[in-house]
Amino acid sequence: MRAVWITKPGGPEVLAVRESAAPEPGPGEVRIAVRAAGLNFAEVMARQGLYPDAPKPPCVVGYEVAGVVDAVGAGAEGLTVGQRVVALVRFGGHAEAVCAPVERVLPMPDDLDFVTGAALPVNYLTAYHMLFRVANLRPGARVLVHMAAGGVGLAVLQLCRTVPGVVTFGTASAAKHAVLREEGCTHPIDYRTEDYAARVRELTAGEGVDLVLDPLGGRDWKRGLRLLRPVGQLVAYGFANLSGGERRSLRRVAAQFTGMPVLTPFSMMGRNQTVSGVNLGHLWSRSDLLREELIALLGLWSSGAIRPRIDGVFPFGEAAAAHRRLSERRNVGKVVLVP
Ligand SMILES: NC(=O)c1ccc[n+]([C@@H]2O[C@H](COP(=O)([O-])OP(=O)(O)OC[C@H]3O[C@@H](n4cnc5c(N)ncnc54)[C@H](OP(=O)(O)O)[C@@H]3O)[C@@H](O)[C@H]2O)c1
Repeated sequence: MRAVWITKPGGPEVLAVRESAAPEPGPGEVRIAVRAAGLNFAEVMARQGLYPDAPKPPCVVGYEVAGVVDAVGAGAEGLTVGQRVVALVRFGGHAEAVCAPVERVLPMPDDLDFVTGAALPVNYLTAYHMLFRVANLRPGARVLVHMAAGGVGLAVLQLCRTVPGVVTFGTASAAKHAVLREEGCTHPIDYRTEDYAARVRELTAGEGVDLVLDPLGGRDWKRGLRLLRPVGQLVAYGFANLSGGERRSLRRVAAQFTGMPVLTPFSMMGRNQTVSGVNLGHLWSRSDLLREELIALLGLWSSGAIRPRIDGVFPFGEAAAAHRRLSERRNVGKVVLVP
């Protein structure tokens, strides 16, 4: 089978399409012939050597796929060869075939195409899990979302629309604001030309917001905490600030780590604040939660409440260009790889 390999840490040129034997499904697993695989920011960071969870290069990454079951392992129940499915996989998704335990594989609705299917699991699970399991989003809440025009950001905006009266503040480059408005963002903010924190304060008459969803990390976590109203919550779910260009910079990494807020339960109590962490990649032991949430999301897709916005579809041979779309901040929505 062909797969996109990260041959060593570095720029997009370290990606190569290579041949290797297709994996065999183990007990409780199925093998999926991949028709489309999502590309995530984490995988760009993995290629840059900035994602500690990734396997050591040379490796094949990829957390989500849509495809067709083509082999069933011993004791794997509920799925049959030929079934169209979406799946969460623990790496190896950027390949023509990948194996996954049945609990992380779900049949796709008939009218869901493979590219859209591959755009759902990671972005929408992250958004759904943060808003509805971790944060308990309520009507009328004010939500600040960073990287709002990325895959997770747009998923957050669409899901916020399912709750009445939610006011959203989304940071993104100015060129992407029209799309943010289309997706229901109440207040797009150009973080490149204005101080987003000052803008949020101005728009809320100094009060701040109820929920900050922050995948930037470092100093932005500190700024986010200062923007919370009483009973507010900050959800930390990424550290994109570690990645400034195409390559790792130790100076940047050090500056971001030293800029992080130092928190204690005592200080949280005094401020009536909550800080939560979300990392889907560390939730494999709770496949039951992920499955329940993915079922809910497929239902929301079927009802028309969510619609992944596809930025681009790239054949495996153009994986380097796909990575550049994200690292050069040009994507609006999801970048998908196809074999
Ligand atoms: N914890 C979890 O389980 C989990 C799961 C999924 C994703 N995440 C995190 O969520 C964040 C968003 O992921 P995603 O896949 O939705 O992102 P994405 O689609 O790749 O979004 C990329 C966009 O983010 C903006 N951006 C802001 N700061 C950036 C930076 N330092 N480098 C590159 N782009 C930057 C750029 O748009 P502008 O032009 O607007 O700047 C860029 O186009 C990432 O930090 C990722 O690691 C976490």
